[in-house]
Amino acid sequence: MRLLPGGRGASVGPEAMENQTRMQPRTRTGAGARARAGSLPGPLPLLETLNDVARSLCFVEGRGAPLDAAVAGVMALLNSDGVAILERRRSGEYLFRKADGQLSEWQDFSLSGACSRLLETLNARDDVVLFKRSQRSPWAREFLFAAGMNWGALAPIRVRDEQVGALLVNQVTAPLVRDEHIAGLRNLATLAGVAVLEARKQASLEDIFMGVIVSLTMALEAKDPYTEGHSVRVAAYSEAIGKQLGLPPGTLDVIHRSCLVHDIGKIAVDGSILRKMGKLSEQEREKMDMHVLIGESILRPLRILHPLLPAVRSHHENYDGTGYPDGLRGEAIPIEARVMAVADAFDAMTTDRPYRNALPEEAALAELRRAAGTQFDPRVVAAFEQIFPAVRRTLQNLRPRRS
Ligand SMILES: [Fe+2]
Repeated sequence: MRLLPGGRGASVGPEAMENQTRMQPRTRTGAGARARAGSLPGPLPLLETLNDVARSLCFVEGRGAPLDAAVAGVMALLNSDGVAILERRRSGEYLFRKADGQLSEWQDFSLSGACSRLLETLNARDDVVLFKRSQRSPWAREFLFAAGMNWGALAPIRVRDEQVGALLVNQVTAPLVRDEHIAGLRNLATLAGVAVLEARKQASLEDIFMGVIVSLTMALEAKDPYTEGHSVRVAAYSEAIGKQLGLPPGTLDVIHRSCLVHDIGKIAVDGSILRKMGKLSEQEREKMDMHVLIGESILRPLRILHPLLPAVRSHHENYDGTGYPDGLRGEAIPIEARVMAVADAFDAMTTDRPYRNALPEEAALAELRRAAGTQFDPRVVAAFEQIFPAVRRTLQNLRPRRS
């Protein structure tokens, strides 16, 4: 069953209305369910719902908040049991970008094959589709996801001629849908589409910012032949250690990205201190140590970089609590920072510095072993030791040749 576009005077045809009113709940019984099916909000609450969602687009509190508001709006509009916002990817697949209620287990899953082809049809026709299990329509077959669901609705999400995705509703009981609810669904789909596009724009801005920060770090390192390529090597070592430790992919990603920018705060440290041949004075050491806090404050403005902050701040903490800036001890030091500390030290020891020549790799490994339990997390050192032969082989090309 397809309906005319709600925004242009949508109406539910007689057959549709008959089907909906005739439909009996199969799994939900009792007075509560019957009252629920027949008590969808009127025009005023509907308008308030739309206003709430529209406002959330203007006053974003955290990423994804407008999508939450759009889903909550649909829940309120149709007393829904499950709502999902599907985002169309370039590949033609549809990602469950936001899924709630009885569809929540689908969060982050993607649809392809027959499902995505049907959604392409929906988007091409720009129609809202209502369907129920008893009709045996392809829509019902493919899009009644959760167990016990008998009724569903799909609204295309289009913004400025762009196919953004689809809004999916699943319900146990068919609601008594009126024209204004179809119109409301279409409007919420548009608002969800704006939210998706805004989030994409934000993500691409954040990617650009991350790119700038990484470029700045590379430029800073390139000015000094002793540190050129340091962050890239630390990132590679750290990721390999993280994998050996069995850390989840999300943590590995944070480790990789935070390593690339871990010393960005040195941009504010005077070059004469960075390149000093001899031992740093106490005052110079204090200035140098500030780079962890400066780095954190450089990255803080963008929310997407927030997961990187703990590692950037804490990569000079020592396992025994004698490090800086907070004197954290043991497991209180973020795992990303504990991993980075080992990789950072290994790379520093195995590259030439103004005040000393590079140590042979075996000697650097021996140093790490010696400081396991004091400066470094012994578990991380053990993991590094296990991957050491492979790291040395595969990353040989990343390290500049010693003169
Ligand atoms: Fe550092």
